[in-house]
Amino acid sequence: MKTPITDDIFAIGVADHGIDLFEGQFEVPDGMRYNSYAILDEKVAVVDTVDARFLQEWLDNMQEVLGGRQPDYLVVQHMEPDHSANIQAFMELFPATVLVASAQAFAMMQNFFGTQWSDRRQMVGDGDTLALGRHVLTFVAAPMVHWPEVLVTYDATDKVLFSADAFGTFGAYDDGEGEVIAEVDPSSWTPEARRYYFGIVAKYGAPVQRLLAKAATLELGTVCPLHGPVLSGAALANAVALYQTWASYAPEAKGILVAYTSVYGHTRAAAHELAEGLRERGCPLVLVRDLARCDPYEVVAQAFRLDTLVLATTTYNTDAFPAMREFLMHLTDRAFQNRLVALVENGSWAPGAARAMRVALEKCRDLRYAAHQVCIHSALARDSRKALGELADELAAAVGATPDADAESPATDPAAFNNIGYGLYVAVTRTSDGRDNGCIVNAVSQVAATPARLAISISKRNYTHHLALQTERLALNCLDESAPFEYFRRFGFQCGRGIDKFEGLGELGRMADGLAILPEHVNAVLSLRVEQYMDLGSHGLFVCAVEEARVLSSVPSMTYAYYHQHVKPKPAPLPAPTPGTGDNPGIATGKKVRWVCKICGFVYEGEELPPDYVCPLCKHPASDFERIEG
Ligand code: FEO
Repeated sequence: MKTPITDDIFAIGVADHGIDLFEGQFEVPDGMRYNSYAILDEKVAVVDTVDARFLQEWLDNMQEVLGGRQPDYLVVQHMEPDHSANIQAFMELFPATVLVASAQAFAMMQNFFGTQWSDRRQMVGDGDTLALGRHVLTFVAAPMVHWPEVLVTYDATDKVLFSADAFGTFGAYDDGEGEVIAEVDPSSWTPEARRYYFGIVAKYGAPVQRLLAKAATLELGTVCPLHGPVLSGAALANAVALYQTWASYAPEAKGILVAYTSVYGHTRAAAHELAEGLRERGCPLVLVRDLARCDPYEVVAQAFRLDTLVLATTTYNTDAFPAMREFLMHLTDRAFQNRLVALVENGSWAPGAARAMRVALEKCRDLRYAAHQVCIHSALARDSRKALGELADELAAAVGATPDADAESPATDPAAFNNIGYGLYVAVTRTSDGRDNGCIVNAVSQVAATPARLAISISKRNYTHHLALQTERLALNCLDESAPFEYFRRFGFQCGRGIDKFEGLGELGRMADGLAILPEHVNAVLSLRVEQYMDLGSHGLFVCAVEEARVLSSVPSMTYAYYHQHVKPKPAPLPAPTPGTGDNPGIATGKKVRWVCKICGFVYEGEELPPDYVCPLCKHPASDFERIEG
């Protein structure tokens, strides 16, 4: 479908919603756009073609605009096949059309098509013009933006710059009926345009700067790139300002990217601990990315966006971990430079990743390394935590973090969590050979109505979490206010891997899928199919479709508050231990400080009980522990 840009310039490109990887490597979840333009004057010019798969759709658009007129010129600005693939079909369809392109573009046509259309071509270079009537096109050489043959084209009549790949972005940018979106919000354009620039063009900062210098001499009203939306007004001003920053390799913002890889979670823990420390010190923008799991080009774009980069990785085959090596290659390929870099390495017997990362970055210009380098031996320990803190101090100072001394620390009062309402449930699973399992959960919410979806958070330590992931099935038994503490002890304080948590409960009911229904103290049951899973750190979030739901009674549901008030045993003073007598078997003897869980008797040994400690047996918090000396 045609889209008017000015009175006689039209967008006739296409939207690609079916592509998976652009240029064979870039994820494009919002699709891709291949733009082409038609200028209707005394002479008719078409600017560039589109991807091979869209020949007919493009010709339909052109036909709609031209209304029976024949194109006099096909201007080829760029020979990459996403724009040039249909030259041959076009030239066969319109035998009188003249090709207009640079000398290098014609040489490339020979390679792609076996001909340069020597009898139908007009070779142009920097500063040459093409008169169409009212419009006179001026060609501007833009080598290496993004190939050497590239020309951009300026129409002084309507103040339009056809900018080839420059100012492009990922995304289909159509209105649902095929028309290109011509007015775009700058903030919505920027993230994908940044990923496009640093993925595709970043290596060629100097050529882009030369093009920007030429463009600065032109009066620009509208920019028509080969990808993405047409830009004008605030969107164009935003794009030009960002290109000036990006092309000069200057950081766009103050902030810290923590890019890490982790094999067993210890380096991941360090990366997140450092990020938390940076936030606590008032760093304005701290991003954390797992290089093995994130889109590498989004991380590359963030590395160029921010002024500080932390690299944290495991030593692997005496080098950095593979995903980190690949990331560093992406950076060096794109002339990464002019940043503060900090290194965190992990190694169980011969840490060497920091040295390897420095070697990999040797060819980058103007990198400054943080004075504090952190070495972790297998897992975070007192010395490596101290080093992380020192690094956080250094980086916070470097980015000019200014924690507001008067501001209350955000989200630091754990009592606030107690005011979030919860119910209590037995989440039931089954092993592949039919053995029942279940655990107590409280974080359950209906998150969608049509179709009904529940979100359930389960601790990764629980066997139920493992079975739900493995079988993709769950059932919720909604506990009612009659449920005794014995139920919570049975399902909450022990692991079902080695015992039958259902033994002695009486005859179980069954959902249609075979999952267990407890014989009493349950007012409703729901059978669920796991549709999505999200790793939340200590817990996993299961988003589930509801396949069966039954109400069993009208007894009110057990809430977490009701449990605490009426079901959970009240802490009782423990008898003082008699050292060496063993008369309190839950408490070891000796001259040590111990902390005893007043609910289940578990003993923690140590001078200090961590404030976030949770009893490993009954899951009660540090506040339910009592200090014992002796
Ligand atoms: Fe959109 Fe360099 O091709």
